[in-house]
Amino acid sequence: MNRFTGNTAIVTGGAQGIGAAIVLRLARDGARVSFLDIDAARGHALAADLQAQGLDVRFIPADVTIEDDIRRAVESSESVFGPVDILVNNAGRNAYFDAAEMSSADWDSSMALNLKAAWLCAKYVLPSMKLRGGGSIVNISSLHARLTTEGMFPYAAAKAGLTGLTRSLALDYGAFNIRVNAILPGWTRTAAVDDWLSRQPDPAAAERQVIDAQPLRRIASTAEVANVAAFLASDESSAITGAEIAVDCGLGAKYAG
Ligand SMILES: NC(=O)c1ccc[n+]([C@@H]2O[C@H](COP(=O)([O-])OP(=O)(O)OC[C@H]3O[C@@H](n4cnc5c(N)ncnc54)[C@H](O)[C@@H]3O)[C@@H](O)[C@H]2O)c1
Repeated sequence: MNRFTGNTAIVTGGAQGIGAAIVLRLARDGARVSFLDIDAARGHALAADLQAQGLDVRFIPADVTIEDDIRRAVESSESVFGPVDILVNNAGRNAYFDAAEMSSADWDSSMALNLKAAWLCAKYVLPSMKLRGGGSIVNISSLHARLTTEGMFPYAAAKAGLTGLTRSLALDYGAFNIRVNAILPGWTRTAAVDDWLSRQPDPAAAERQVIDAQPLRRIASTAEVANVAAFLASDESSAITGAEIAVDCGLGAKYAG
């Protein structure tokens, strides 16, 4: 018996990166997993690959900044896999704006994905979790929620908001045995990190500098973040709610205080 046998999960932004690693971890541990993504080609390809491995996964194309897409995706998942026990709000993207130059539309678009989408997805799974006596929501925030670097406006604001949202939902739904926690990844080897490195004048030197700065002298893998997501999704973490867990190779500790 796997730890998620009989459980259904929804993972947003599951077509690649950290989200794909979470889909894989939950499915390998026995969950039926629906994953949502705006990238339909990548999503369908990943679903076909995982299904060929015998895993119970479904890809549902959806833009999580659109409430109707989320409502339809949750309904579609429930119609095949049944009610949702686990929601992982993972979809997100970096932002590199100057506060004086950024347009209002760019602000809204960043907040819609990095903050509002987590609320909207929760909105459509909380009622059935409440009815059924429990559930677990895991929000993939960022170390930027606690500390940040220059030039990443308004990503840090959105991710700090996401940890605030995590705490509020944990308080408001704790009495219904619904746990809500946040993971704060630090540097994690994904396309987003490769994109940031490619923006640096000397990407190889920038990567060496990043690695040297990590107390563990390396950056995390997507699987290492997924392991913590699975822990928070599972009953192994049954007394943990409203928490922020950094998966950052020690970087947050280094700059604390
Ligand atoms: N990679 C890191 O080092 C790192 C560090 C801290 C936090 N994070 C956070 O982890 C999460 C995953 O990051 P990643 O590095 O794997 O990113 P990624 O860019 O590799 O993957 C993000 C996925 O989300 C999907 N997506 C984007 N917009 C969407 C939308 N509107 N609707 C549905 N899907 C959408 C993308 O198509 C993609 O498949 C993000 O929330 C990110 O902020 C990443």
